[in-house]
Amino acid sequence: MVFLRYYMNYVSGGFISGNPNEVDDNGDGSSGLGDAVFVVLLFLLACSSSPYLAWAFDEATYFNVTDYGAIGDGHTENSQAFLKAWDAACKARVKSPTVYVPPKSRFLVNPVRFDGPCIGSEIYFLILGTVVAPDAPSAWKGKNASQWLAVTNTKGLSVAGFGVIDGQGKAWWDQSCKYHPQLKNCTTLAPTAWKFVGCNDSSIRNIRFINSAQTHILVQGCNGFLIQNVTIESPGNSPNTDGIHIQSTHRLNITNSKITNGDDCISIGDEISDLTISNIQCTLGHGISVGSLGRSGNLVQVENITVTNCIFNDTTNGARIKTWQAGRGYLKHVAFERLTFNNVKNPIIIDQNYCDVRGACPELETGVQISNVSYRYAVGTSATLIAINLNCSKSVPCHGISIESVELTSAITGKQVTANCSNACGKEHDIVPGPCLLHETHQDTMI
Ligand SMILES: *[C@@H]1O[C@H](CO)[C@@H](O)[C@H](O)[C@H]1NC(C)=O
Ligand SMILES: *[C@@H]1O[C@H](CO)[C@@H](O)[C@H](O)[C@H]1NC(C)=O
Ligand SMILES: *[C@@H]1O[C@H](CO)[C@@H](O)[C@H](O)[C@H]1NC(C)=O
Ligand SMILES: *[C@@H]1O[C@H](CO)[C@@H](O)[C@H](O)[C@H]1NC(C)=O
Ligand SMILES: *[C@@H]1O[C@H](CO)[C@@H](O)[C@H](O)[C@H]1NC(C)=O
Ligand SMILES: *[C@@H]1O[C@H](CO)[C@@H](O)[C@H](O)[C@H]1NC(C)=O
Ligand SMILES: *[C@@H]1O[C@H](CO)[C@@H](O)[C@H](O)[C@H]1NC(C)=O
Ligand SMILES: *[C@@H]1O[C@H](CO)[C@@H](O)[C@H](O)[C@H]1NC(C)=O
Ligand SMILES: *[C@@H]1O[C@H](CO)[C@@H](O)[C@H](O)[C@H]1NC(C)=O
Ligand SMILES: *[C@@H]1O[C@H](CO)[C@@H](O)[C@H](O)[C@H]1NC(C)=O
Ligand SMILES: *[C@@H]1O[C@H](CO)[C@@H](O)[C@H](O)[C@H]1NC(C)=O
Repeated sequence: MVFLRYYMNYVSGGFISGNPNEVDDNGDGSSGLGDAVFVVLLFLLACSSSPYLAWAFDEATYFNVTDYGAIGDGHTENSQAFLKAWDAACKARVKSPTVYVPPKSRFLVNPVRFDGPCIGSEIYFLILGTVVAPDAPSAWKGKNASQWLAVTNTKGLSVAGFGVIDGQGKAWWDQSCKYHPQLKNCTTLAPTAWKFVGCNDSSIRNIRFINSAQTHILVQGCNGFLIQNVTIESPGNSPNTDGIHIQSTHRLNITNSKITNGDDCISIGDEISDLTISNIQCTLGHGISVGSLGRSGNLVQVENITVTNCIFNDTTNGARIKTWQAGRGYLKHVAFERLTFNNVKNPIIIDQNYCDVRGACPELETGVQISNVSYRYAVGTSATLIAINLNCSKSVPCHGISIESVELTSAITGKQVTANCSNACGKEHDIVPGPCLLHETHQDTMI
């Protein structure tokens, strides 16, 4: 009946998985599931609206990492066992091949890459236990320090369960150049907890990520990706621990997630389209950032982004856009809506002159063209005196900015906040602290 309990948990969490026919703890040949539960399961399956999680729960075949030699004692190193389970699932000609990480165990796993393409049209990673990274950077000796876990080149990948991915990043933080520049051997690059590179129509659901050495989740070069109900937790003073970073990806949704960390809650790189971010709680860290875009003068093509129903608590930024002057290309069709800010330093900010070292970037005549960006229904408090700061480029001004129904006050009682805009053109109404945009000339409105 142990398995049934997990099964019930999924049901109450709206998550469908498991294989009642294969796991029979009753010893009587029955599935162990009451009819009522089955009805609920079928109902949920029928109502499951996500195209990236069509779990055939009655047909899944498990590739249990323990069957490939993994030992979940927290000490034994298991990367080869995990890799063997992945390879077997990846090559299997079965429906819903599922790499299975059992509950109530801690699996220490060294850096490892799970490569596709796989034989089937879908592959699952069901994580119920905890997967932990080595606690010492020396485990990366001779390996690529940019990643701990990675999946490459797959389609129909679903990572799910209610397990934990524990990056044990403290030793990396303690030697980071960002916070310990005096260390002779300090490091700027540290492993991303889990990279998804070239994964199409894929998803991550219900997983908890903690204490990554650097970025927690990276999605790169994917087409169709869903991140839902993940929790990300690392200290507010941990260096460069981005929650989710996205790069060169199309059709991505991030929803119903809570992120507490030390860098960007979600950051969006060059070459993105069709991104929806909704129902996210960002705490501490640097908020949701489109950019930095165009770092080395590269071509930026970012469009169709919606950020809606997000809460920012004690973050440095809320809705942020940052581009390098050297960048080329465009950022367009961006909507920030229904945002709540509590004690946020820069609730609404565009910095088109972004520079990582103050004063080190001379003024250039180039820039990423920003147009059609809207801010609607945003409320809350600013921790600094500039609540709205749209600092656009003199050479490539922002066009088609729209600000509507925004009310931002100071987090400090008795203080007045301002809206400061430069080279930002568009329309606005119903704004506290007040208007700041330049009106478009007729020609300017052609975006
Ligand atoms: C979200 O994930 C957590 C585990 O991290 C789980 O307990 C919870 O039931 C999930 N919620 C939904 C709505 O799926
Ligand atoms: C996976 O392996 C563990 C340990 O051997 C076992 O307890 C569990 O029943 C197995 N689960 C599945 C679904 O294969
Ligand atoms: C490490 O892996 C990343 C991809 O994740 C790749 O871009 C980079 O070149 C690799 N670095 C080395 C030293 O192999
Ligand atoms: C993912 O989609 C891209 C673009 O459609 C395609 O080029 C690539 O081969 C696909 N990758 C896989 C593993 O299916
Ligand atoms: C860096 O130096 C410190 C102190 O000498 C040492 O403890 C640590 O292991 C070194 N780290 C690396 C990555 O070599
Ligand atoms: C992603 O969000 C868009 C816009 O809200 C929606 O149309 C689409 O169905 C969503 N896709 C997934 C996989 O959830
Ligand atoms: C972005 O949205 C616009 C307007 O809805 C649409 O015409 C365009 O094709 C979309 N771009 C991409 C790359 O999907
Ligand atoms: C954010 O702050 C508000 C106001 O202080 C509080 O009510 C809310 O619970 C906080 N949310 C989170 C996720 O911490
Ligand atoms: C502006 O962007 C929104 C999406 O945020 C899109 O619906 C709209 O069509 C765009 N407007 C123009 C004029 O392109
Ligand atoms: C706008 O950007 C310029 C150049 O980086 C900077 O000097 C200025 O202080 C910024 N203005 C505001 C209001 O942040
Ligand atoms: C911001 O705007 C206020 C009011 O217009 C102005 O007094 C202040 O100097 C501006 N601050 C900066 C840094 O531009």
